[in-house]
Amino acid sequence: LAGATAATLPFAPAVRAADDGLSGLPARPPTSGPERTHRLTLVAAERDAHILGPGRPASRVWSFARQGEPIFPILRAQVGDRISARLENRLPQHTSIHWHGVRVPNGMDGVPYVTQPPVQPGETFEYGIPLEDTGTYFLHPHCDESGQTGRGLMAILVVEGDAPPGYADSDLVLAVKDWRLADDGTYLPFDTKDGAGRAGTFGTVRGTNGQAGPMRAAVPTGGIVRLRVLNLDPTRILQLGVEGAAAALIATDGHALQPVSLDGLTDGVWRLGPAMRADLLVQAPARAGETLRIMDYGSAEPWLAAELTAAGPRIRQDAFEPRPLYAAQIPRVTDLGAAERLSFTFGASSGADAAAEIAAGLPAGDPLAKVLLDTLCVRDTSLWAINKTPWPAGPNAVLPPPLGTLAAGRPYIAEWINTTPHPHPIHLHGHTFEVLSYSRQAGMPRHLADTVIINPRERVEVAFLAAPGDWMLHCHIVEHLEYGMMGYLRVA
Ligand code: C2O
Ligand code: CU
Repeated sequence: LAGATAATLPFAPAVRAADDGLSGLPARPPTSGPERTHRLTLVAAERDAHILGPGRPASRVWSFARQGEPIFPILRAQVGDRISARLENRLPQHTSIHWHGVRVPNGMDGVPYVTQPPVQPGETFEYGIPLEDTGTYFLHPHCDESGQTGRGLMAILVVEGDAPPGYADSDLVLAVKDWRLADDGTYLPFDTKDGAGRAGTFGTVRGTNGQAGPMRAAVPTGGIVRLRVLNLDPTRILQLGVEGAAAALIATDGHALQPVSLDGLTDGVWRLGPAMRADLLVQAPARAGETLRIMDYGSAEPWLAAELTAAGPRIRQDAFEPRPLYAAQIPRVTDLGAAERLSFTFGASSGADAAAEIAAGLPAGDPLAKVLLDTLCVRDTSLWAINKTPWPAGPNAVLPPPLGTLAAGRPYIAEWINTTPHPHPIHLHGHTFEVLSYSRQAGMPRHLADTVIINPRERVEVAFLAAPGDWMLHCHIVEHLEYGMMGYLRVA
């Protein structure tokens, strides 16, 4: 392995995550019925939307949805289906689609310059996505993410087939994302040096499902509700809790674990960093008109994210006993002892680099400087790094060497160390890994993930089988990746 640092550990010994979280899950029966190909055209375009609310000024959003439709379209498919999607770029800058968390062939991973050419304005790109796994996922561009996702360019993908018959009475999507809006509906700067160098720049208007404020929905009285929570915010780490009902965590980043009561977790919350998903199971109140509330305890004041109101006659009498979903069919490391160990340190960097120098050498207002700094994934400074190597802040047409070279099909245990004073949700493309241990978060269940929060001065271990390709590894606090905390692994 090239480029990985030797393990030097000023960190507490690992706390093994409880072993039983992933064992004993029921197996998914073989899929029956014809597999479908969903042919879609995803037009990325600008339009007006009333994010601030009716009667308030409209905002210009970038979205795959048409005028009048919800900003984040929800694509639903069955496991075993295929998506054949044409991206049509009608935006003023290049874009791409990354199918976050989906097990895709490397060429479909949507990273400009790494897995495909950037899709320039007026161009199209065809994505062929096999849906081998069930779960809750989302799609986002992989360039100027703070600007493009900040304006709303994301979609939700639900791949069904993980629930036994009669599992839930309703299945709802709760996508949490703040907006950086002024009172007149225009955007405030998406990234700020101040935020980028710290925990990230926060939105000014909290929102759900593409609008300001909490989600409100009616659910059948006494019914079992599956709530697919996605954190689509570029910055905020949610601390999800439920009031007014018992609740269980049933899937992490789309994949089943033995149901964990939220009350049994530290502080009664599940932390959900940018890009992470959590499926919750709750039972609606026993009397019509009563509510249950999904809360975020991560901000100074607890924030109401969703209010579900029981409506209609009571449909279930039985006590709440959450059943597990079917086990994921992700390729897993069966013999941890045989895995090769890797070590990566997520830390700070300093100094300006090539693009900033080029931009700085241009006369003020030169349009090329703007191109360099805005549209080519370029920021003018690196603040963050992996293994002391910041992702170069130059046009990415010239790629840096990989952070490491791995062998396809081989098992690995990666140790991820955060040396900074901020938590980082770390995402590895193309893989769903098993989170084995945390050195500073106690009481965590063993679970599957594609993004994991590493606390300040913490070490986390994850296990995965390497899939062939060049796969990005980065913090999903968008400004952190844009300011250097990104690299890639080459699996050959
Ligand atoms: Cu959702 Cu490279 O990330
Ligand atoms: Cu980060």
